[in-house]
Amino acid sequence: MSVLRLGVLVSGRGSNLQAIINEIEAGTLKAEIAVVISNKHGVPALDRAERHGLNAVFLDPKAVADTPDPRQTYDQILLETLQRHQVQLVVLAGYMKMITSILIDSYELRIMNIHPSLLPSFPGLHAQRQALHHGVKVAGCTVHFVTEGMDTGPIILQQAVPVEEGDTEEDLSERILKVEHDLFPRAIRLFAEGRLRVTGRTVRLSDA
Ligand code: GRF
Repeated sequence: MSVLRLGVLVSGRGSNLQAIINEIEAGTLKAEIAVVISNKHGVPALDRAERHGLNAVFLDPKAVADTPDPRQTYDQILLETLQRHQVQLVVLAGYMKMITSILIDSYELRIMNIHPSLLPSFPGLHAQRQALHHGVKVAGCTVHFVTEGMDTGPIILQQAVPVEEGDTEEDLSERILKVEHDLFPRAIRLFAEGRLRVTGRTVRLSDA
């Protein structure tokens, strides 16, 4: 059986990318990273990809800024890049650009995102800050399929993380991030094993 080919989209630090690379290299995740694509130049995530001998591509949003619909044009190029590398599952690992229907329709239920809150609470930017401002006692993270809309797709896995007295945004983010690094590879593994069944908003896990 051929190994699942991942396309990982990044914009920054790349610690989730690193967690996925580590599991693949350790043999605990049966997948391969066909390409890593960034919308930001010179970010640590691209360095990590290169260090591990992966295809690392920077696609510059400015290159399409003069087209009638820059977001769609950008995603058309993104889509062609993913297809050229025969990507089967798109993984958004800290990708800070909204994706459009061009990508979502072509990779329906084959795009995953990780978000640092227990969705549907606190979608969008600064989820950990939103959680602290709201005074919640339990935070967490979510891996979900990407559909149109901000952080709204069917939920694959979630894990709770406690909020401690006196937590700063950095404290909470760090505690959540540790859990993300376990949760994201787990969700990808379930996909690779063909164990995710989606009905409407609900994702069920079938037996191995
Ligand atoms: C993570 O907190 C993730 O949940 C969010 O963006 C952050 C990316 O971090 N979507 P990294 O680039 O993977 O280190």
